[in-house]
Amino acid sequence: MQIYYNSSLKPFHTFSINQTADVIIEVFSVEEVKDVFRNDKWRGLPKLVLGKGSNVLFTEHYRGVVIINRIMGINVREDDSFYYLNVAGGEDWPLLVEHTVKKGIAGLENLAMIPGCVGSAPVQNIGAYGLEFKDICEYVEYVNTETQDMVQLSARECQFGYRDSVFKHSLKTKAFVTSVGLKVSKRYVPLLDYGPLRSLASDSSCQKIFDVICKVRSEKLPDPIVSGNAGSFFKNPVVTSDRFDLLRQQYPDIVHYHTSNGMKLAAGWLIEQCGLKGLCIGGAKVHPKQALVLVNENNATSADVINLALHVRSQVYERYGVMLEHEVRFMGETGEVFLDKFMDSKIERS
Ligand code: FAD
Ligand code: EPU
Repeated sequence: MQIYYNSSLKPFHTFSINQTADVIIEVFSVEEVKDVFRNDKWRGLPKLVLGKGSNVLFTEHYRGVVIINRIMGINVREDDSFYYLNVAGGEDWPLLVEHTVKKGIAGLENLAMIPGCVGSAPVQNIGAYGLEFKDICEYVEYVNTETQDMVQLSARECQFGYRDSVFKHSLKTKAFVTSVGLKVSKRYVPLLDYGPLRSLASDSSCQKIFDVICKVRSEKLPDPIVSGNAGSFFKNPVVTSDRFDLLRQQYPDIVHYHTSNGMKLAAGWLIEQCGLKGLCIGGAKVHPKQALVLVNENNATSADVINLALHVRSQVYERYGVMLEHEVRFMGETGEVFLDKFMDSKIERS
């Protein structure tokens, strides 16, 4: 394992904001994960597992141990009907998708170019272009951080939802995901229901879909290497059909999608309609091409990002009566915190 004391978190998260942590440890095997959680030196300290840090915002110095997943390995087997992949948690998700597409293993291509580690994908149940991680997941393996036992959960036991899973609830801080099992059918049916994919031929190859998605994403989403960001800052809100009918009477063009538990609204559309595209607070900015993404435009502090997020959320609420919930995970001094914590006072730049 590689250990850093009192170090900058900047290289370990994609918002590229200057925050620090007491201890940062890169782990390269399951045994090293267990060692970190067993070691007396770090017992009692808060611990945070991180992949590529592409869905987090550090709001202040982290007084604990940040553990970075670097466990590598991909194993593929097949039978007449399916491919089965066992992939270690530290593998890079976008590279995994590219690798499967090149090998002609179809089924992951709609999730192209989503930054992050394989082990983080089940936590948020990543999704894009009509596919979610849950649709290809067979099982998830993790180290129980309290007992250091290995546990395997079936996809059903993971309780996946929209950007949600058991790892954000009863297993929060209790599981270090070490590998995932993916299963994709050899009877390939391309998923072409989402926006720009609708114009493609129904027998499009996984390579074709992969290429189109990469092109669309590169045009629309900011590259974290150029402008720090963590993807969609807020989730798309789901409202009841009664609430939606009232909104549609007032805003006939409101972008919406039917879901099993209500009507999902496009948060990017709501933010854009409030005239917030391109708005800056300090060094943080609402992305001019995708209003759902907040970017670190110019040496933003976490306070800049929080103040911008508070402003966006309150403007959308004032106009539409819809309260946005952030998708990005806020990490405070000793653990996860939420935007409400900062609501009563504009916080100072530091
Ligand atoms: P991190 O940010 O490191 O961690 C995220 C959370 O998971 C944290 O709470 C962390 O504690 C926890 N965690 C991480 N690893 C483990 C583990 N091994 N065990 C237990 N808990 C763990 N997301 C989408 O769903 N769809 C998109 O289309 C999409 N597009 C994006 C585009 C950009 C440009 C960016 C920057 C982000 C985008 N995201 C998207 C968000 C992000 O890519 C995903 O949430 C991704 O899964 C995060 O992976 P990570 O390794 O960076 O996780
Ligand atoms: N829209 C606007 N203005 C904007 C942005 C979007 O009007 O500034 C409208 C678009 O025109 C479109 C609708 O909103 O009609 C949806 O936009 P888009 O297809 O870009 O998707 P999104 O809802 O903004 C979601 C996910 C993304 C995922 C894409 C593609 C969430 C929170 N975000 O974004 O995931 O890549 O769909 O499937 O669900 C992420 O989670 O970090 C992420 C990037």
